[in-house]
Amino acid sequence: MPDFTKITSKVPLEHLAIIMDGNGRWAKQRGLPRSAGHHQGVEAVIQIVDECVLQGIRFLSLFAFSSENWGRPRHEVDGLMELLLQFLASQRQRMLADGVKLRVIGDLSRLPAPIQAALTDAQKDTSQGQKLTLILALSYGGRDEIMRAAKQIAQQALDGDLDINQLDNKSFSTFLDTGNLPEPDLLIRTSGEMRISNFLLWQTAYAELYFTDVLWPDFDRVELQKALDDYLQRKRRFGLTDDQVGAQKGE
Ligand code: IPE
Ligand code: IPE
Ligand code: MG
Repeated sequence: MPDFTKITSKVPLEHLAIIMDGNGRWAKQRGLPRSAGHHQGVEAVIQIVDECVLQGIRFLSLFAFSSENWGRPRHEVDGLMELLLQFLASQRQRMLADGVKLRVIGDLSRLPAPIQAALTDAQKDTSQGQKLTLILALSYGGRDEIMRAAKQIAQQALDGDLDINQLDNKSFSTFLDTGNLPEPDLLIRTSGEMRISNFLLWQTAYAELYFTDVLWPDFDRVELQKALDDYLQRKRRFGLTDDQVGAQKGE
């Protein structure tokens, strides 16, 4: 359960996660190439990051490229990588000015070397950001992340550095890419699809889910506010009874 005393935002939400979907369909509706949808999608990212900073949300996770997206046509993958480089270069100053700290999760070893270098630099440059941690999921798959964590744990056990009897949910999760980050409170998916598509499988165990038909390039601060308003109406119980939850919140 989130520690509500630590939450500074206007909504009791520490970590927002978004599956940004629908760029291709947005472009298709306009008779444009898919790349145009991805370009417009970046504009939506910039607006939503800005709004999260304003709203005092501490962590924002964006699913930008999945482990399965490697299977897309070569030119689309190359275009997305190029767009990522442009994003990092164009947003550097803004991130620094706004107190945004960048963090990347996923199997980064599969990314082209120049992208890996740019991500390392961007994370170093923004490491002092205090307001919002922006978590970009790149070459990311929830199963892949859990598998990599399991392998690391097995290796440490084999080396005699870890007693598996001591392993619990909390210590297991520190082996995930997300490490000690709080779990998402709300997961938004755009474009009308109602699935998780291998995003943050472990971490969203108790996230509230919000689905909207709006395509990602059209998702703006008004749409975000609708999602936050909807989230405010939710009753999170984490398996407990209403009375227990009320008592914990001091109601
Ligand atoms: C989401 O939009 C962006 C990425 C997955 C990189 P899509 O590219 O999946 O757009 P649709 O789902 O085909 O409309
Ligand atoms: C999920 O979208 C991945 C990202 C948003 C980066 P996809 O478009 O790849 O997911 P599916 O194929 O519709 O499940
Ligand atoms: Mg899609």
